[in-house]
Amino acid sequence: MPKHYLSVNDLSKDDLYNLLNHSAELKAELKAGHDHSHLLKGKSVGMIFEKPSLRTRISFEVGINQLGAHPVLLNAQEIMISGRESRYDVARVMSQYLDMLMIRTFGHDIVEEIAEHSSIPVINGLTDLEHPCQTLADLLTVREHYGTLDNLKIAYIGDGNNTARSLMLACTKLGVKISIACPLGYEPGKAYESEFTHVCHGVGEAAKDADVIYTDVWSSMGQEKEAQLRKERFAGYQVNTALLQDFAKPTAIVLHCLPAHRGEEITAEALKNHESTILRQAENRLHTQKAIMLSLRN
Ligand code: CP
Ligand code: NVA
Repeated sequence: MPKHYLSVNDLSKDDLYNLLNHSAELKAELKAGHDHSHLLKGKSVGMIFEKPSLRTRISFEVGINQLGAHPVLLNAQEIMISGRESRYDVARVMSQYLDMLMIRTFGHDIVEEIAEHSSIPVINGLTDLEHPCQTLADLLTVREHYGTLDNLKIAYIGDGNNTARSLMLACTKLGVKISIACPLGYEPGKAYESEFTHVCHGVGEAAKDADVIYTDVWSSMGQEKEAQLRKERFAGYQVNTALLQDFAKPTAIVLHCLPAHRGEEITAEALKNHESTILRQAENRLHTQKAIMLSLRN
């Protein structure tokens, strides 16, 4: 395992499978009533949020508590990671108190700089570039449903954003085929493409015969000013019943990392029909992040 988890690219194929297996084990144990509180007993894990969060915030805090560690929550106003003092000093000082740190912020360079100067493991809880914790929960959910990740086709409809990029990296590592349909100019970036990825502009082309249909918001956190323009550009890049019926396999599941905007990237009907899978995907953040924290512990 790497020292930090900033990008899915930090993991090897074996790391990915080990994390998924360990997540499944931790999940089964928790459901069987096992106590995990000895695993990180006496440790302190910091969480810095420079953007809003529901799932990441709660699943990390609950996971940290379940592992017997103490969560230290810092919001943007308190820590001012990019203002009050240098990131070098923030990283060096936090390393004196904490055993691990999770950061959600804007620029990916911010988590990279903090990690570079930290002597403790740093986890990316979402940057503008990647959402690597989300990807592990996504893959666990798909594997739970199909029993395997082999011979599946994932279709991602919408913005080539942080969620899409991390998922593409994981699919490339694992040899899972993924098709991305996005408007012109909203591609994830060439660096994320590989022989297993297919980026196009037609939703039908991407969704054809897919086993998994995935979507995320048209405007990510920090892009609020572009929301109106994006609504126009992304019209048609919507997961709805017609798309599912016309193109995806009849057995396809729908994933959404949430938060969702009904009537934009997904219809209320599609979300309702696939709610159980999407909620399991949110639940799986807890189990996968526990596995990540345990794999990074010093
Ligand atoms: N999916 C996800 O990361 O949700 P939050 O933004 O609520 O943490
Ligand atoms: N792409 C979204 C994901 C939210 C979990 C964002 O960055 O806002």
